[in-house]
Amino acid sequence: MAFVIDKKRSHYCGEMRAEHVGQTVVLMGWVDSRRDHGGLVFIDLRDRFGIVQVVFDPSQSELACSKDFRGEFVVALEGKVIARPEGMVNKKIPTGAIEVEALTCEILSQAETPPIQIGDEKVSELMRLKYRYLDLRSKKLQNNLIARHKTMQLVRKYLDEQNFLEVETPILYKSTPEGARDYLVPSRVNQGQFYALPQSPQTLKQLLMIGNFDRYFQIVKCFRDEDLRADRQPEFSQIDLEMSFVDTEDVLQMTEELVRYIWKEMKGVDVKKITRLTYDEAMNRFGCDKPDLRIPWELNDLTKTLSQTGFKVFDDVAARGGSIKSLVVPGYSNVSRSKTDKLMKLVKQMGAKGLVWVKKESGEYKSPVSKFISNELFEQIYKDSKASEDDCIFIVADDFNVTSASLSMLRIHLAKEMGAIDESQDKFAWVTDFPMFDYSPEEKRWVAVHHPFTQPLDEHIEILENKDEKKYASVKAKAYDLVCNGYELAGGSIRIHNQEVQNTVFDALGIGPEEKKSKFGYFIEALKYGTPPHGGIAWGFDRLIMVLCGIDAIRDVIAFPKTAKATCLMSEAPSSVELDQLLELGVRLSQSAQKNLD
Ligand code: AMO
Ligand code: AMP
Repeated sequence: MAFVIDKKRSHYCGEMRAEHVGQTVVLMGWVDSRRDHGGLVFIDLRDRFGIVQVVFDPSQSELACSKDFRGEFVVALEGKVIARPEGMVNKKIPTGAIEVEALTCEILSQAETPPIQIGDEKVSELMRLKYRYLDLRSKKLQNNLIARHKTMQLVRKYLDEQNFLEVETPILYKSTPEGARDYLVPSRVNQGQFYALPQSPQTLKQLLMIGNFDRYFQIVKCFRDEDLRADRQPEFSQIDLEMSFVDTEDVLQMTEELVRYIWKEMKGVDVKKITRLTYDEAMNRFGCDKPDLRIPWELNDLTKTLSQTGFKVFDDVAARGGSIKSLVVPGYSNVSRSKTDKLMKLVKQMGAKGLVWVKKESGEYKSPVSKFISNELFEQIYKDSKASEDDCIFIVADDFNVTSASLSMLRIHLAKEMGAIDESQDKFAWVTDFPMFDYSPEEKRWVAVHHPFTQPLDEHIEILENKDEKKYASVKAKAYDLVCNGYELAGGSIRIHNQEVQNTVFDALGIGPEEKKSKFGYFIEALKYGTPPHGGIAWGFDRLIMVLCGIDAIRDVIAFPKTAKATCLMSEAPSSVELDQLLELGVRLSQSAQKNLD
């Protein structure tokens, strides 16, 4: 009687409980660990559902007691479930009340000593990515991917119940503008031409609205060739949604209901009212458009207070319309000089030229700029910043964006360091009314902050119609992001459904008739034939799982992720290809690319 073929698995390791005592069971799995107690041998047997202790009596299984029976061997065994003796119960594991006394055992597959210890967090990430299939056996990755699966099923169930239809859209497609570089695929049959892998199904989902597929969704792979970070991958998944006959409020409501459903089902948590901030408010109060609201500190505007101090830096910044802001760190007045020097280096990474600190020592104000600032002015700074005696105030003066980015970074850095993040709950916020355009000094033109299909606020369309370029920076869009714990979880907008407005936006973006026709001709044409008002949103699905599982690295929620250099250490993708394959595609390598391979 061979295991697997004739003798089938009767139970999973992880489901063994006291109620199974007395039963004969057939288990299969990996040897997690083996302990030889001279006479008795114990192994922990692991499968997807958990670990169970198996005990071998040497007279019954020579095999298990030999030194060749090692960790990561795949075994099948038949045994009797017995209650563990009093005092030997392991409360830490769900199967800890019982053990399985092995009757027969067979090795299904031997294993060489694995190059990484399963679940050992000290092993370098490089090794764990190279041997990903081994790391996948760890409890952490198992749990993360199980949470991913469960969430995916919940989302599908919920959206189906809400009348959303899942429609697949092509991967071999044409550039979809989301602001990153495209991944291109050469066409063999149409030499010299390329597909672009979609950065998102943006245009396609809008075409589905035109095609009367109101309430579309898709859990879909997106591809973006951009600089990678801890929360970005070159290929990632979105829960992509689009609805017809809606305005902003409808999309926000629908998304909030989905948030509540996911958090209730996955974490048993009732999500309270979600804070709403306009983009301007978020930038003014927190210095960034995805504020972590678990940190109770806000920025304070001191531009007016510090516009005429005699300290040239402050005076000049105020005079040129820049921004002087403070961040108060409670109870931090004992900060050392070497620490403030370190913090200055930190904010310089965001472009700040320096960092002023102010604190009180034995009733006296201390600051590197005290010779310019009177006691009355210091008092005003404390008042404007709502600071107390034992706090430390940090001040940056620069252009609005630099001041904001520097103090926002400091806020997060010090909150983490001081344990000032309230991790007991997830804090959501909507950020709305994003700017429509951003000026790109490199390209010397305006670029879309969200994407060019986003509807400007009704009251701002006139600025575009009048081609009033001086006011483009003030044009706001019907665009919104859902933020959670400092992550941008989802982003979307109401779309332009009117061909004229769409053309006006393309004009503002400097997209000329040629480019318009070649890139979006089919799309602009489609707008002509009856387009319903529509809008939607896309969730970063991987980020959603990160936040749900409380994990900082996106790689830990993806089965086979890429490194920061967009490579796969396991398969060594990307890799070179045969010359014949290139010829067939009509592609030739440049000299520098060739050199890179040699
Ligand atoms: P957006 O570009 O904001 O919008 O993307 C939506 C969400 O996708 C996630 N995301 C990423 N996750 C991991 N790695 C990346 N490289 C990455 N880039 C984006 C983020 C983000 O909030 N078509 C529009 C949506 C719409 O308007 O409906 C879009 O793609 O969580
Ligand atoms: P300095 O006169 O250049 O030695 O600067 C005096 C103090 O002001 C130092 O602590 C600098 O870090 C700080 N400082 C200089 N420029 C700025 C700035 N733009 N914003 C905030 N602090 C600054």
